[in-house]
Amino acid sequence: MLFKKKEIHVDSRLSHIAFIMDGNGRWAKKRAMPRKFGHRQGAKSFERVVCECKRLGIKTVTVYAFSTENWSRPKDEVDSIIELLSSYIDRAQKEKDTRFVFLGDKSVLGDDLQKRMTSLEEETKDRPLTLNIAFNYGGRAEIVHACNELIGQGAKRSVSEKDISEHLYTSASPDPDLIVRTAGECRISNFLLWQSAYSEFYFTDVLWPDFDEKELHRAIESFYKRKRNFGGVT
Ligand code: IPE
Ligand code: IPE
Ligand code: MG
Repeated sequence: MLFKKKEIHVDSRLSHIAFIMDGNGRWAKKRAMPRKFGHRQGAKSFERVVCECKRLGIKTVTVYAFSTENWSRPKDEVDSIIELLSSYIDRAQKEKDTRFVFLGDKSVLGDDLQKRMTSLEEETKDRPLTLNIAFNYGGRAEIVHACNELIGQGAKRSVSEKDISEHLYTSASPDPDLIVRTAGECRISNFLLWQSAYSEFYFTDVLWPDFDEKELHRAIESFYKRKRNFGGVT
């Protein structure tokens, strides 16, 4: 007998989903392969998951690709992650409805890569869907950066929450409704510290390279079972 696949519906309650894509190294280790092999497989999962988010009508997707702390990894691993970003930027040209935003400090990356990141942002800035790629991103560094921008603009009054939000790398996006972290770790690891104040969290043991459409649907189903209060009573 044929069973029709259950379709999942997403509405405005879930406009922004963010992913801490963890577990690439362990995925490779289980296969006795080098860690960079796991990152390559993780990059494939990323493209698949983003594609499914778009199909479901999710307007903003954020992925944590490389943290400010990840520089402490072996150079060849770091180089392989930067190389994956670089090759993704080439493929990103084919996405016609997506605005790309890089969250984090580009200035330490190679000149050519920085230029390609900035032009992708510029060329796509009027598009309806947003893909935020957090690269050389740290939540604390982001808040410090926002404060320094405000100081640089000569803020002569005390700053508000709105001022800070408007100077974060994510200023163009709403706060995430749902943050998914794979690979069994239940921590934030310096991701979206300010923006996650009222996000729902979904943790799964599935390693990122194994996270597929089915796993995404599970995370979304879990989100829709939650009751969000935002500090109030309902
Ligand atoms: C996440 O996978 C990718 C990055 C942090 C760049 P990891 O490389 O952290 O994988 P594990 O946690 O070692 O398995
Ligand atoms: C978080 O994963 C960063 C990214 C997914 C890019 P890590 O693997 O770096 O986090 P920790 O070190 O386990 O907290
Ligand atoms: Mg990890």
